[in-house]
Amino acid sequence: MNRPATARGGIASFESRVERDCLKIAILGTGAVGTALGSRWAKARHAVTFGSRQPQSEKVLEAVEKCGAAARAGSPLQAVADAEAILLAVPWPAARQTLADLGDLRGRPVIDCTNPLLPDLSGIELGHSTSAAEQLAAAAPSGRIVKAFNTASVRVMNDPQFGEHQATMFYCGDDAAAKTVVRQLIADVGFDPVDAGPLASARYLEPLAMLYIHLAFNQGWGSNCAFKIMKR
Ligand SMILES: NC(=O)c1ccc[n+]([C@@H]2O[C@H](COP(=O)([O-])OP(=O)(O)OC[C@H]3O[C@@H](n4cnc5c(N)ncnc54)[C@H](OP(=O)(O)O)[C@@H]3O)[C@@H](O)[C@H]2O)c1
Repeated sequence: MNRPATARGGIASFESRVERDCLKIAILGTGAVGTALGSRWAKARHAVTFGSRQPQSEKVLEAVEKCGAAARAGSPLQAVADAEAILLAVPWPAARQTLADLGDLRGRPVIDCTNPLLPDLSGIELGHSTSAAEQLAAAAPSGRIVKAFNTASVRVMNDPQFGEHQATMFYCGDDAAAKTVVRQLIADVGFDPVDAGPLASARYLEPLAMLYIHLAFNQGWGSNCAFKIMKR
């Protein structure tokens, strides 16, 4: 593909790297989601760098080892330095500050998988008139926020294949080039990516995650289930 570089630092070049099947991905947060997606992307030949508050801790070293030779760890700032895509996988209360501490994101895609859950998981903190994703976009305007990976459990992220069906992963955002990158990263994990439209659609995706949590924990489905959308 021969697209012009964009004024904001070359998202077009990210797209062509996606076509070459290899991206430098910074993963902020080395918890359940960060390590699961890091391992999936490393298997898909992406170069993963974990950004952690404690990059020398045993859990981070284990996560790096699981991802193989191309993986590294450092501080969040070190991780994003040369990243072409960034996954924000920290608890919602820490999300805005984690992004703000990174400074200028130079137009790079930032995948927001956070859910603004109440501490006891009984509901979400934000309603239908805004969303965590939109609040992050307002707090970090130099990044291109794409909501994704918030509507499935870690168990499903580790294996999104259900028999002959791939679990659906919805994503949304306002920047077409960033969405192209994230769509590919969703497919690389093994999900069926479904474009849910502009970033404001996070107002639907975040409550959808709450439905998932309700089904999993209150209705007895457990975490080995996933959403699948069908069309004819
Ligand atoms: N678990 C799921 O099934 C699931 C599914 C979909 C979406 N999500 C969302 O994905 C995000 C990450 O979830 P998770 O389950 O991976 O969480 P987690 O296991 O608690 O890990 C979060 C990681 O964020 C980092 N972090 C940075 N600042 C933090 C702070 N102030 N307090 C605690 N941790 C901090 C930590 O990594 P370092 O110590 O290395 O800095 C920590 O390991 C959340 O927003 C969650 O709502 C979770």
